[in-house]
Amino acid sequence: MTEPSHLASGGEVRVYRAHVFHIAGAPDQTDVASHLVSLPDGALVVDGEGRIVWLGDWAALPAAFAGAPVTRADYLVPGFVDSHVHFPQSYATAAHGGGQLLEWLDHCIFPTEAQFADLEFADRAARYFTRRRIAAGTTAAMVFGSAFPVAQDALYRATLEAGLRVVSGRGIQTVGPEAASALITSEEDAIRLVAEEIDRWHAVDTGDPRSAHVQVAVVPRFSLSVTPRTLAALGELYDEARMTGVYFHSHLNENNRKGDGEIAAVLGSYGVEAYLDTYDGRFLPGSKSGGHSLLGRRSSLAHAVHSQPRELARMAETGTSIAHCPTSQLFLGSGTMPWRATVEAGVNIALGSDIGAGDEWLISRVAGDCYKVHISEEGDAGTAIHPAELLFAATLAGARALDMEHAFGNLDVGKDADFLLIETSRWEPLEGMLSMGIRSDDEEQATLEELFTLLVGLRQPAIAAVYVAGEKAVAPEL
Ligand code: GUN
Ligand code: ZN
Repeated sequence: MTEPSHLASGGEVRVYRAHVFHIAGAPDQTDVASHLVSLPDGALVVDGEGRIVWLGDWAALPAAFAGAPVTRADYLVPGFVDSHVHFPQSYATAAHGGGQLLEWLDHCIFPTEAQFADLEFADRAARYFTRRRIAAGTTAAMVFGSAFPVAQDALYRATLEAGLRVVSGRGIQTVGPEAASALITSEEDAIRLVAEEIDRWHAVDTGDPRSAHVQVAVVPRFSLSVTPRTLAALGELYDEARMTGVYFHSHLNENNRKGDGEIAAVLGSYGVEAYLDTYDGRFLPGSKSGGHSLLGRRSSLAHAVHSQPRELARMAETGTSIAHCPTSQLFLGSGTMPWRATVEAGVNIALGSDIGAGDEWLISRVAGDCYKVHISEEGDAGTAIHPAELLFAATLAGARALDMEHAFGNLDVGKDADFLLIETSRWEPLEGMLSMGIRSDDEEQATLEELFTLLVGLRQPAIAAVYVAGEKAVAPEL
């Protein structure tokens, strides 16, 4: 092997030795299992720039890296990607809302989010939120933001200081119930505040949306929190902003309680035939076109539990991803996104905690809930999701939803080194399951069983270290 050029540049190379699991390459969702890589005694080599320069069996480590310092762990996996998490709901997990989505928003969420207008409160919450992310190994996230610029500033600052990745945008509301009044602005102010956030924070660290750790999204809360006029103005703004890599993010088809649920309210108030049309520029009665579409490769929508086939087809066609949040859907009684039909439609499905409707920060636990709800779907729809698909949904699919698959999401050589080290002894049940649990005699099957137990049995204390682009993430003090 020729001498790697990065060594000549004098950067410090590090080796991480552990049982490595990842999904290599860029497979379609339907082909993920054949891309699973398991290296029981593996080595990941990271150069001084934080890039992955080699991955393979420890026994085959090239001589060029033999002198590099070695860190050992039980397991090494790519960093988790949370494709939908609400910053201003950091303290609102496990809140009894007295009902489904719309009641919970009124009783628990609008009041908690109003607290983020206060700089000191928001600053502490941003540090708390960042600590929760590091504890849960969430190296990258699509963060549904606060209505208040002071809170968004605190979020970006804390994220940069800790060394994590973030895409976020202030939650836009131009209309809503009395309980949401503190979060509502005029349409003019909403547009101005989004533009200012983009100016101030989008790709602030590198200036390039392909490499930046901090990026901005246009985030209307959901169609019920804005008007056709707001959507038209956001469409205008996004038509230009998407050229610079700005994202679009919102909620879709979450609650279908008959008559007065979210979906019925959207269809009723806009007079559209499908909820997705409101984000697709077709927000006028009869789903007539009224402006620019907000869909695309840098667009993602949380939930999509009750979508029509044509909505799924349109998401697939435009490259819009779904942030699937099964833990939240259980909590709010939202039902279950049909897994097989959604996969068959060809939409990218990433996992989201949906903190605070989701009461669990750890994306591998969301993957566990994903497994449980989809094995419980009725009749032929029910499926025991393959362990590799769970790992994919928790990592590479999230990078794909953020249109950052070129930079992270797996451990392919050339990508940034975003990964977690796991020590099973830090969580006794995990160690017990992995060391004493029964395994198939078939080696391939045993590997899948081990991966499944690792993902579903993982708890936060076992995450020993979190790395983003080769740097260890540092939790801020509270
Ligand atoms: N729809 C509109 N706002 C929200 C929210 O904050 N959480 C969830 N789960 N759904 C929403
Ligand atoms: Zn949400």
